[in-house]
Amino acid sequence: MAAKPRVWVSRPTFDSEVARLEPHFEVHAEPEETKFTSAELAAKLAGCDAAIVGLKERVGAAEVAGAKRLRIVANLAVGYDNLDLAALTAAGIAASNTADVLNESVADYAWALLLGAARRMGAAERWLRAGQWHATEFKGWLGTDVRGRTLGVLGMGRIGQAIARRAQGFGMPVLYHNRSRLPEAVERACRARYVDKPALLRESDCLVLVLPLTPETHHAIGAAELAQMKPTAVLVNVARGGIVDDAALAAALREGRLAAAGLDVFEGEPRVHPDLLALDNVLLSPHIASATTDTRRAMTAVAVDNVLAFFGHGPHAGHPPNLLNPEALALARAPLPAHPKLT
Ligand code: GLV
Repeated sequence: MAAKPRVWVSRPTFDSEVARLEPHFEVHAEPEETKFTSAELAAKLAGCDAAIVGLKERVGAAEVAGAKRLRIVANLAVGYDNLDLAALTAAGIAASNTADVLNESVADYAWALLLGAARRMGAAERWLRAGQWHATEFKGWLGTDVRGRTLGVLGMGRIGQAIARRAQGFGMPVLYHNRSRLPEAVERACRARYVDKPALLRESDCLVLVLPLTPETHHAIGAAELAQMKPTAVLVNVARGGIVDDAALAAALREGRLAAAGLDVFEGEPRVHPDLLALDNVLLSPHIASATTDTRRAMTAVAVDNVLAFFGHGPHAGHPPNLLNPEALALARAPLPAHPKLT
């Protein structure tokens, strides 16, 4: 009997989902979170036919050079700036993401950060925990109301739209900017009005960033953009570190040129810019916007479904539903050489 193809899962996920691979694959799942070097990653990928990886695995030409059997890399994230798609495609390796299943959880979290930053929840909690609540000042801990103010969304994909829809509950008009304007019906459903980027920066009281990190969006919010924003504005980033120039943001927050920020992502994370750590008007979290049990389970299920589908199993057999580089499929379908026995 032919040996089963091997799949490597780079981090602990949800066992019941990973178990769905077992009838068809020899599954190697990492038992603990590990930060692999490029060489370690290359060695892991070298022996497998499929890989399910997380954002901290950066997979490019060097990592797949020796991965002659590898046919699909399923990313456990919607964003895929950790994958060099051109290099994977050139190597005939398919790639998939976990689009859609996390939209609502990330949208909820963007609102949590927005409200938390506007109402100074992080700093207030630190103050309470430090035992400083001896007397409450009537004018202590004054924050900013968001209701009725203008919400801006930069990057109006499905997560941006889910954030915009929630604005109705807060009576907030919504402006958005996006690479391309949305169809009118979608704008209506989100009650959102398209504006150019300078108008978005100028008019937003609360600005949420939900755009992918690409060479074009790197530092989309830098010193020049921050200078166009209202000094009373609140900025939220649930997209990717690197979209905001964190040093410029820290300077704006410190100097009162921006009221507050809520950040789930950072340039060079898990490192956080020390100037941000020193500020009280920024609410920080460790890249957890999609981290609910249901959503992280669903993300695992999607990655598993894509691997199964690629190898001809499950309801999407032959058509991985979240393929990022369909052009790789023709190459990737070439017959595989016999699987060597594990030594
Ligand atoms: C998380 O940041 C993701 O892209 O899913």
